[in-house]
Amino acid sequence: MSAHKRVAILISGGGSNMVTLVNSMVGDHPARPVVVLSNVPGAGGLAKARDMKIATQVVDHKTFGPDRAAFETALQSALAPHKPDLICLAGFMRVLTQGFVSQWEGRMLNIHPSLLPKYKGLHTHARAIEAGDKVAGCTVHEVTAKLDDGPILGQAQVPILAGDTPEDLAARVLVQEHRIYPAVLRRYAAGDRRPIQYAPKES
Ligand code: GRF
Repeated sequence: MSAHKRVAILISGGGSNMVTLVNSMVGDHPARPVVVLSNVPGAGGLAKARDMKIATQVVDHKTFGPDRAAFETALQSALAPHKPDLICLAGFMRVLTQGFVSQWEGRMLNIHPSLLPKYKGLHTHARAIEAGDKVAGCTVHEVTAKLDDGPILGQAQVPILAGDTPEDLAARVLVQEHRIYPAVLRRYAAGDRRPIQYAPKES
């Protein structure tokens, strides 16, 4: 019986995606969470990880100023003892350089709250509403050096409803993030990169 894939989850905030990923890695799932790491010392997701008995690490990017390489070296050192096979970025709000990404290419996933390739970067929901789009959603992709640009592994769509605020849309999309990310991770950890598409769902 091959050992489980060891998964590190990187967060910056509340960690709702981290919680659903951790909760999904049970039973015959081919992976198990081994560490939750945040660049923000007080991130709410750290307490949730501790409650779930997952090891946590903090690497505060602020202590490295503009030196991204130094931050990423510290990141690698904090991850190493946990021997991760895969990294899941889940609400992780730091851009990673080519140096870090190239060491994890093909072993690092991210969830982005838009239907990539549309709306890379920030404020995705406001931009989709502003553009008059009828559908929005989220994307799980492999991380490459170009921001929000790697091979797409899963997407889930939601309708944009009349009168939606960006907050309304974010809440609707977040429900789908919690569906698609665990589904993709389960396949990806088993070595299956076939993309998953979830049709529009209102809730
Ligand atoms: C989510 O909208 C996710 O798409 C983005 O960060 C937000 C918060 O995620 N990457 P979480 O609740 O911290 O998992």
